[in-house]
Amino acid sequence: MRQIHIREVGPRDGLQNAHQLMPTEAKKAWIRAIAQAGVQEIEVGSFVPPKLIPAMADTAEIVAYALTIKGVNVVTLAPNLKGFQRALEAHAHKVTFPVSASRKHSEANVRMTPEQMVEEVRKCARHPHPGVEVEGAVSTAFGCTMQGEVPEDDVVRLASALAEFCDHVALADTVGYANPAQIRRVFARVRKEIGPKLRAAHLHNTRGLGLANALAAYEEGVRHFDSSMGGLGGCPFAPGASGNVITEDLVFMFESMGVPTGVDMAKLLDARKLMVAALPEEPVYGHMALAGLPKGFRAAA
Ligand code: COA
Ligand code: ZN
Repeated sequence: MRQIHIREVGPRDGLQNAHQLMPTEAKKAWIRAIAQAGVQEIEVGSFVPPKLIPAMADTAEIVAYALTIKGVNVVTLAPNLKGFQRALEAHAHKVTFPVSASRKHSEANVRMTPEQMVEEVRKCARHPHPGVEVEGAVSTAFGCTMQGEVPEDDVVRLASALAEFCDHVALADTVGYANPAQIRRVFARVRKEIGPKLRAAHLHNTRGLGLANALAAYEEGVRHFDSSMGGLGGCPFAPGASGNVITEDLVFMFESMGVPTGVDMAKLLDARKLMVAALPEEPVYGHMALAGLPKGFRAAA
């Protein structure tokens, strides 16, 4: 029985920030391999203007393909109603919306203030979407490279507003500013306001604290984690943003602690090989892939 749920976000957060385009057929093979490793939720792309992020231009085709893989919850990002409508036409299972707590990042990323973005998500949530989950992700929730400090009160206020009409709310450390004490404090404050609607931790490893922050979130009761294979990732509209917490290392940390993830490490490393082959010039990271499993390692039961 898995105790934590990993959502692989490499095909979206990873590829949106990669220097190279991954060919559509390679994306499909990679996504299939991720699913075969036991990852049950994959953020496969985003419905944004293709001119803005060419790497996401094939998202409708990728969603259609991912839907043919049994047992995978297919997630896409959308920044507005138009993106949400495209996601519904494609039959994505879940749509996540980036709502920046940093005013500067919000304006750079979606050309809306945080308040306007909340209203955009509210409009989407009111739009008929039978069976499709809506997630509000409070991004730059732990600091911003443009604004600097992001007041915790702003994060709590946005999360509470989103919880009124979203199925779930996530907190995202978009630029890797968070530390474990802050993670505990902010998740605890938000949970006090919105209870179980608070779900995922979306963490970036920019300053090396990705795993420490994931552990802090786990100890604070979080059971849903976003991560990216090979540590790809970053928001093209947040200067200095770099990769997500690394899926392979996250799986190893939890499995070695006896916390089941449902993910098979050997198959995960096979999927990583496909990704590396399809993005030969992209820097990839990860201790597990370099060092291998310890002798006598036993996955969590
Ligand atoms: N998908 C495809 N096309 C879209 C779209 C979407 N989700 N939203 C808008 N467009 C099109 C419009 O139809 C319009 O096309 P036209 O010029 O042919 O008429 C054009 O894009 C501009 O539309 P507008 O509503 O004025 O958008 P904008 O230029 O103000 O940009 C966003 C706003 C939200 C669409 C854009 O900032 C965005 O996509 N941001 C997300 C960036 C991102 O992915 N960041 C990383 C993940 S957090
Ligand atoms: Zn991210």
